[in-house]
Amino acid sequence: MKKIIFGLSLVATILIVNANAQGESGKTIFETKGCALCHKNHMDTIGPSLKKISTAYMGKETSLLSYLKGQGEAIVDPARASVMNPQLVKISSLIDEDVKKLVEYIVSATEAQY
Ligand code: HEC
Repeated sequence: MKKIIFGLSLVATILIVNANAQGESGKTIFETKGCALCHKNHMDTIGPSLKKISTAYMGKETSLLSYLKGQGEAIVDPARASVMNPQLVKISSLIDEDVKKLVEYIVSATEAQY
């Protein structure tokens, strides 16, 4: 029995280490952090569509990165920044690499046809 438990926990550990090594995709982060609730690809809902956001930040990915790290100004719909600002807290603990994945996801999501 002990051997089985040891074996199982070893497998679990390997799976966890593996998952961390590969990291989460930008899409996964966007969904698990709740961003997708307010941001759809092509349609403005509670928040502006990803298309609108990526158009505003076209060629300015660095500014988008700063914005998501809480170091930039809202440029899409500043009048409603009070709705978005608390959301930035949810990603404030992300490592830079993951914030970059979010940026990549936001600027590329509009290529999807839905
Ligand atoms: C409760 C709804 C809501 C959620 C959840 C939400 N947002 Fe927003 N978001 C908004 C609204 C409203 C705006 C428009 C205000 C603005 O532009 O600051 C916005 C704007 C933005 C902008 C454009 C900022 C700019 O320059 O104006 C980005 C980028 C963004 N959201 C990313 C995200 C990410 C990433 C998440 C997940 C961590 C997220 N949002 C979660 C409502 C939401």
